[in-house]
Amino acid sequence: MSQGDQRQFQELLEFIGAEMDFESGFYNDAYLDRRITARMRRTDIDSYREYRRQLERDDDERAALLDSLSINVTGFFRNPEAWESLRSVLRDLTDQHRRVNLWSAPCADGREPYSAAMLALDDPQVDDRSVSILGTDINEDILREAREGTYETSHTTDIADELAPLDDYSEYIDRDGDSFRIRKRVSDMVEFEQHDLIRGASKRDFDLVFCRNLLIYIDGEYKVPIFETIEESLREGGYLMIGMTETLPTACRDSFEAVDKQHRIYRKV
Ligand SMILES: C[S@@+](CC[C@H](N)C(=O)[O-])C[C@H]1O[C@@H](n2cnc3c(N)ncnc32)[C@H](O)[C@@H]1O
Repeated sequence: MSQGDQRQFQELLEFIGAEMDFESGFYNDAYLDRRITARMRRTDIDSYREYRRQLERDDDERAALLDSLSINVTGFFRNPEAWESLRSVLRDLTDQHRRVNLWSAPCADGREPYSAAMLALDDPQVDDRSVSILGTDINEDILREAREGTYETSHTTDIADELAPLDDYSEYIDRDGDSFRIRKRVSDMVEFEQHDLIRGASKRDFDLVFCRNLLIYIDGEYKVPIFETIEESLREGGYLMIGMTETLPTACRDSFEAVDKQHRIYRKV
């Protein structure tokens, strides 16, 4: 990027931070640039300055950009092979503890914590009655969708396909055409609350934390505070699962040992 473009890009980020209530400083510039230039292409604008002007006058474009920046892509059983590996972790945890607490952070629209609940219910060797799950996200709107627990198949999302790791999803989900509704026996295991992993307080005594597909977007300096929050929230020997393309920051590698490196499952030492 030329110096002029760089300056315009930074001015655009300042505008987005000040006027659109989006903390662009958390995210890495390469990620932000990809999302912004994709919107610029859609609107036929080829300079950051011109795009900022567009944002100043067009409420719909602001909404479209925010939507595209909110990185809330998710799915049921995302990376199914990693969930398969998680089975033995869940069996082990429910064998050893009377209560097992899982935390999906960030949970986006809830498909990750509901997957954990369905895995527990579906595996005869997991005592699902001992399992409780908390889903948290920074974004209140997406948490509303999570609590609602209804998902639609569309041209970009095939919900039945996402549920393929279950032999028979109809025990856990009611289907009406393209609409899939989480049943009460699953939603009863999951609670949702708003929480910011960078600035929020840690929690206590979790046995397993999922922190998947957030770190890839986050600027390096904020990764360590996220891991500190997670580490403090886990009890000793508790498990951590990160996204398949993510790695632990070097500064945190002494606190966790790999249980299944390929599927990014670690244990607090
Ligand atoms: C790509 S989704 C990941 C969802 C799920 N873990 C998965 O792997 O499918 C990333 C989520 O991170 C949330 N998020 C972004 N910044 C956050 C923060 N500082 N604290 C908590 N959640 C955050 C976004 O709102 C978004 O829902």
